[in-house]
Amino acid sequence: MTIPELTDVHPAWLPPEAFRAIGSRRALVLGDGALTGTVHDEVAAACARYGGSAERAGDGPFDLVLALTTAGPLPQVAAAIAAEAGPIGEEGYVLARRDGVTAVLASDPAGLLYGLFHLVRLGEPAFGAARPVERHEPAMRRRMLDHWDNIDVHPVMGQVERGYAGGSIFWRDGVLREDLTRVRAYGRLLAACGINAVAINNVNVHATEAHLLTDRLGEVAAIAAELRPYGIRVHVSVNFASPMALGGLPTADPLDEDVRRWWAATTARVYETIPDFGGYVVKADSEGQPGPFAYGRSHADGANLLAGALAPHGGVVHWRAFVYNHRQDWRDRSTDRARAAYDHFAPLDGSFRDNAILQVKYGPMDFQPREPVSPVIAAMPETRLAVEFQVTQEYTGQQKHVCYLAPLWRELLDFRPWGRDGRDVADVATELVAVSNVGDDAYWTGHPLAQANLYAFGRLAWDPRLAPDTVLDEWIDLTFAPAAEPLRRTLHTIMDGSWRTYERYTAPLGVGFMVRPGHHYGPDVDGYEYTPWGTYHFADRDGVGVDRTRATGTGYTGQYPRPWSDVYESLEQCPDELLLFFHHVPYGHVLRGGATVIQHIYDTHFAGADEVAEMRTHWDKLEGLADPALHTRVQELLDEQLRCAQEWRDQVNAYFFRKSGVPDAHGRRIP
Ligand code: GCU
Repeated sequence: MTIPELTDVHPAWLPPEAFRAIGSRRALVLGDGALTGTVHDEVAAACARYGGSAERAGDGPFDLVLALTTAGPLPQVAAAIAAEAGPIGEEGYVLARRDGVTAVLASDPAGLLYGLFHLVRLGEPAFGAARPVERHEPAMRRRMLDHWDNIDVHPVMGQVERGYAGGSIFWRDGVLREDLTRVRAYGRLLAACGINAVAINNVNVHATEAHLLTDRLGEVAAIAAELRPYGIRVHVSVNFASPMALGGLPTADPLDEDVRRWWAATTARVYETIPDFGGYVVKADSEGQPGPFAYGRSHADGANLLAGALAPHGGVVHWRAFVYNHRQDWRDRSTDRARAAYDHFAPLDGSFRDNAILQVKYGPMDFQPREPVSPVIAAMPETRLAVEFQVTQEYTGQQKHVCYLAPLWRELLDFRPWGRDGRDVADVATELVAVSNVGDDAYWTGHPLAQANLYAFGRLAWDPRLAPDTVLDEWIDLTFAPAAEPLRRTLHTIMDGSWRTYERYTAPLGVGFMVRPGHHYGPDVDGYEYTPWGTYHFADRDGVGVDRTRATGTGYTGQYPRPWSDVYESLEQCPDELLLFFHHVPYGHVLRGGATVIQHIYDTHFAGADEVAEMRTHWDKLEGLADPALHTRVQELLDEQLRCAQEWRDQVNAYFFRKSGVPDAHGRRIP
């Protein structure tokens, strides 16, 4: 296989220089299987560039051995390391260096591939001093990206729904792209950060895209063929009403025998064409998508129907828990969108088949910069759960703003629903899924620095205990190889705290959704206030926030186990950053941090916008240290981020000043 190289696309975290250390070795790659072949071809390409050699057999001497433990006989040093390491888990690998030999060993070829990319991350230090045996295994079995790509350009959403990096890398002008080299290069980038599954089309499955399941299956197969050499399985979003739309049946009732037969036969055909097909993703009874409710059936009935069709072939269905009433009456204060997923799904715990995975957004609302962790995650011990993140920055600056999301994700993964001594979200989740931020843009992600979010997602799905700044360091070292020290420092200064900066200048204290309706970019404090979407802040002249307590509100706090049900219920104990998510309070309410709510709003909005101005100044100083085109692109985007942050600051501050009449304690100008 030739290693994909693109001349007109940024190499992201795999520039040729990242392979320099590997490319100058005498390497041996041992073992069977297509992925082992990929490992060899990667090493050989690096060696062709940097003067080393890559063999598949021979006596050496070698200073790098990448081998399957099943391939024998192993060179002596590798054999000793293998004996010491013992069994190596699925997709895992062992790394050690002794007697001048660096060895990466795995029991399956996928592990060898991940081990290779670990060497790439380590660079020259992998070939320096001796290293004891290190074991690496992924925390999550499946580490998945969902593309919200359409084949056609949707009149409102464009080609990639919530996409901020151009069109789809898979389709153009209504057909599969002729040249899929970029898809292979994408697979390579994903493997290098640990991703092993991709759903290729939008969860809102429109008429054209529904056909990927049947007469357009060849396109899925073609994409799968490009991603397979990098260990990535392809999944497809399907429309629950497909038996009607594609199969001509009068119903899509999950308990109907003909419907069941249709899914079984259709799925069998999928596997005849793509034997390693991953499975289906389903958004049902949500925001207008069809689902089992139309037939009086439950979501377990719906999910199990598809799980049953997939089971004989080893596939899985990802069934999304994002189900709520999007036609709510804003006057009705008893309906609370935050409650919906738990109310629908918690009673179904234990009734999903083994290969049905419930895919739960991290928060109860919708990917806001600050939300509590979804109570569904603690409520379904008998169900396999995937936690869903949003790498695409729908609500976090749309890849116009720098917003490094790993610190947010770490907080979510570290959250302990049962208190200090209980398990955390990373322990409970069986897998992590995220909405991709990639498009056909030359930098893949629109904002060049948004590449770090994609990289970090994969790394955290592999190891949720990694520190965000360590992951950022990895990304910097690879992407800007070799990264000059001032560049590294400045990127940390700009990016480490950028999510908190974003939080400061946007909706305050966890209240969320003060965005422009529809496209969700920029401020509009009352934009959703009188809409049917269930996303309100209830600001009036006296106070702001949503009362979700059991005592006087919607009772949502009761969906959490202790201690959080009590902590969130209590005005005194509720964490400041979530106060307005759980409570409606007067503007003069004093936060745990000591400021009043109104003063906190003013202070954080002034501070947030100032921080963006500082980011911009820092970036300016890098002129000459980063590639000029990349430097200019980021500079222009920082201009826009600053404009937008100031707009947020002024709208939010003016809005609350006008509502409350309370002046800023520091007398700053509020327009
Ligand atoms: C958000 C987003 C939609 C998307 C939906 C989903 O509401 O705005 O574009 O379809 O999430 O996750 O299904």
